[in-house]
Amino acid sequence: MALADFDLVLFGGGGDLAMRKLLPAMYARHCAKDFPASARIVCVGRHAWSREEFISEVQAHAQPHIPAEIFDASQWQSFTSRIDYVSLNATEADTYTQLVETLRNDDNVQRVFYLATPPTVFADICHNLAVRGLATPKSRVVLEKPLGRDLASAKQINAEVAHVFAEEQIFRIDHYLGKEAVQNLLALRFGNVLFEPLWRREWISDVQITIAEELGVGGRTGYYDTSGALRDMLQNHLLQLLCIVAMEAPVSISADAVRDEKLKVLRSLKPFTQATLAQNVVRGQYRGGHVQGKEVLGYRKEEGANPDSRTETFVALRAEIDTWRWAGVPFFLRTGKRMADSLAEIVVRFKPIPHSIFAQNTASFQPNCLVIRLQPDEGLQLNLMAKTPGDGMRLKPAELELDFRESFKAPRMEAYERLLLDVLRGQLTLFMRSDELEAAWEWVEPILNFWEQNDADPMPYTAGSWGPAAASALVGRDGLQWREEALPE
Ligand code: BG6
Repeated sequence: MALADFDLVLFGGGGDLAMRKLLPAMYARHCAKDFPASARIVCVGRHAWSREEFISEVQAHAQPHIPAEIFDASQWQSFTSRIDYVSLNATEADTYTQLVETLRNDDNVQRVFYLATPPTVFADICHNLAVRGLATPKSRVVLEKPLGRDLASAKQINAEVAHVFAEEQIFRIDHYLGKEAVQNLLALRFGNVLFEPLWRREWISDVQITIAEELGVGGRTGYYDTSGALRDMLQNHLLQLLCIVAMEAPVSISADAVRDEKLKVLRSLKPFTQATLAQNVVRGQYRGGHVQGKEVLGYRKEEGANPDSRTETFVALRAEIDTWRWAGVPFFLRTGKRMADSLAEIVVRFKPIPHSIFAQNTASFQPNCLVIRLQPDEGLQLNLMAKTPGDGMRLKPAELELDFRESFKAPRMEAYERLLLDVLRGQLTLFMRSDELEAAWEWVEPILNFWEQNDADPMPYTAGSWGPAAASALVGRDGLQWREEALPE
């Protein structure tokens, strides 16, 4: 579907996210010829840059994030000619005049306001867009995370944005939903009959969802120290992945059909109590160590970090979903910075065979396991038991692999590229609805309160490890191991 002409207004246009992710994603879609010839990108920021000065900024800070294989000087030139720059103070409506003059007043031009700013100014921006007559009934607004820091602040953001924009105009972004493998999980579950009969408590032993990063917090301590892994990754990315794994089949792929089902999962998460929290949630913070052979500092020694910080850089927890399908199946969620490896994966482990007819002992059978890899490469792996060639019935674990890039030979599309196209097309399926956001905060909030009331430090873990030992004990209590612990050396 060809895109309608648009004016995309990028608040926070000079910021880190715009430079690292958003402008490179737009460049890629420009090169793919998705954008109509006269579509424009209007970057907005506080700095009093001229257009030329801003383009130099983009050159210096966005261009290095464009993969070499898609960089082309003449494409770059034509891409930057779409970019304009407007300086304003987001909280003062009087300063929006240049923006009013810059945007086209034409019903055929789709207006998108992309708020890549701290959420504290979302309400002011929306209000000022309304006051200055910029927010039309057809325009769309994109909200970047963090969408609040607890239930009350998320509700407040939702309410304030709703004063100006209807729910169908609001695109709450979670870039994990834009990843190819996540959408492939929808295809796997609802485009095949194979897994559905097994996708339940009778056959699944546990589900593990891990997003591990080798990177530390680096220059982001200002934001991160007030956030931590639970708010930064678990409340959004990990819970969204859990929803896609656990949801019932939606009646269609339409936005509300999918979001209704995800909401039901969030609302069926077993609430934590004081007693279950201590048992089921592990929080950690990295100390100095080695990542890929390179010595790295501990979190408290990172530039700008509070030397007594209690902010968690790691969290692992055991969740349960109180439904007929999932009752009693542990869902282990885990994320951390400065881990042994950079990977994101969903591991669905099936139950062991009930009885072995082979000479081998049942205990030496590896239960079937489906791994959905999101990062570093995207693909699926199904672990089976197979006969080793030759004489005798000796069985051995074997793998069926589907590497998306290899199999489909399609050029890779970054999550932000796909989500950007969805915004421009008005497709809301991969964006969070207000009630989903609030349900996720509602479930996570007791953990935050518990940590605040309990004066303990997060558990230390060495940079370059898989987190505190307590995370292994967490799965160990169910007689299980994290996937990397169960893999042969
Ligand atoms: C962001 C977090 O939402 O996701 C970052 O704020 C994190 O802390 C990033 O590094 C991870 O995203 P990805 O796509 O690189 O795994």
